[in-house]
Amino acid sequence: MIRAIYAGSFDPVTFGHLDIIRRSSHVVDELIVGVLNNRAKSPLFSVEERVKMLEEVTEDLPNVKIQSFTGLLAEFARASEAKIIVRGLRAISDFDYELQMAQTNRIINPEIDTMFLSTSLEYAYLSSTTVKEVAEFGGDLTAFVPASIIGPMQRRVKERAAGKGPQAK
Ligand code: PNS
Repeated sequence: MIRAIYAGSFDPVTFGHLDIIRRSSHVVDELIVGVLNNRAKSPLFSVEERVKMLEEVTEDLPNVKIQSFTGLLAEFARASEAKIIVRGLRAISDFDYELQMAQTNRIINPEIDTMFLSTSLEYAYLSSTTVKEVAEFGGDLTAFVPASIIGPMQRRVKERAAGKGPQAK
């Protein structure tokens, strides 16, 4: 039974994330998509919203489970009895950080191995950060995120501009 974790902020999930989820789900028995609950990052969507969105866009993948986590990824992997962390590599510029993270995770939890998948070429440029910027300026999001995410993104950037949203006090 090979259980792996693909972790991230997924704020929001993009076609690049989905590409890695889909492809890695085909090489392991169970894939846990770990959604980092990190309030310090001031996310566009709450962790509950991100989990729900991921559940919707992965509903055709029976061996994919969505879970939120706090704290260290290597500890979440230990608690989930997963021995593999999946990461997507878009470009060589990702590599330094990813190698450092993979090595740190192995120090924390020596049972962990990180499996890197190269992002499919059509998504090599894509990041949640740039997608959020396009949304903030009212751009077309259809090339970047699943259709079900577009409406919620447009609404949330408007709410944010009006001082509302998950962080609004
Ligand atoms: O969406 P991202 O930025 O690619 O996600 C990065 C993530 C969530 C995988 C990484 O920040 C993470 O593992 N955070 C949890 C804290 C931790 O374990 N850090 C790694 C020690 S180097």
